[in-house]
Amino acid sequence: MKLTPDQLAQFNRDGYLFFPGMFSREEMQPLLAAVPEIYSEYRPEVIREKDGKTPRTSFAAHTYNEPFAKLGRHPRLVEPVEQLFEEPVYMHQYKINGKQAFDGDVWQWHQDYGTWMRDDGMPTPKAMNVAVFLDDVTEFNGPLLFIPGSHADGVVAAGHDLGTTSYPLWTLDNDKVRELAEKGGIVAPKGPAGSMIMFSGCLVHGSAPNMSPWNRVIVYLTLCAVSNHIRQYKRPAYIAHRNFTPIDRLPDDCLLRDDIKGLPWPGHEVDIAAMREGDGPAKWTADVAREADQRMPVSAA
Ligand code: SIN
Ligand code: MN
Repeated sequence: MKLTPDQLAQFNRDGYLFFPGMFSREEMQPLLAAVPEIYSEYRPEVIREKDGKTPRTSFAAHTYNEPFAKLGRHPRLVEPVEQLFEEPVYMHQYKINGKQAFDGDVWQWHQDYGTWMRDDGMPTPKAMNVAVFLDDVTEFNGPLLFIPGSHADGVVAAGHDLGTTSYPLWTLDNDKVRELAEKGGIVAPKGPAGSMIMFSGCLVHGSAPNMSPWNRVIVYLTLCAVSNHIRQYKRPAYIAHRNFTPIDRLPDDCLLRDDIKGLPWPGHEVDIAAMREGDGPAKWTADVAREADQRMPVSAA
């Protein structure tokens, strides 16, 4: 899948591209079916809301769940990002956000690159979020809110919010959000399950709580240019991955085919126990980082 010149211009102007119905319901079905089991497990990779039980987000399911492993290597997600960055990408983060019916909580206004830069030492914003809706997203179930064009200012000032929700974020203050929204407005891309959004790591976004009776499960891949790999290992590796090996894509119809497997993923085998180390690189991490540096030296730009 290639982006057209018009789409590239739109992305540069707005900071995101929306593709309603990019995947069929049939393709989404095995992913949606796998979600309850992933969320039912009490493991460090599954973050709960403040009530301690509602699943808020689940990290790194592509390392242990078959359909989610396939999605992580899907050409419809990976190719357009490689095209934009003009180089291979690796998986910086992989999460399934629950935004569960009635109990799914707010995501405050923030920029993802603010966190990747401050917490993970990612040198530049050359990383992209690709979101895939597993449920229909409507005005009722807490759609993502974007401020179009807000990526153009780069990283803006933010405070580390450790209290509002169960998941720490570098969030923007109200005056900054007001200033940006007066310029760009606010949009809420809505569409059927299978819709896809690509958005810049600098785009200001958030979402309201979900008080509807409908879940709003969205999967997010963060694809980072290999030359832009993170330099700081402060967060656990299941949140900020440390395997900088380029993603090798599966065939376009992989989600519908049983003969194609996402796991094991050669070159990406990860010991989930090693990924739980929080305070410094595990040995294998240092080796992988060195290899990536040798493969593609980072320019000063
Ligand atoms: C995020 O910004 O990382 C998540 C927002 C959402 O899923 O609503
Ligand atoms: Mn975000």
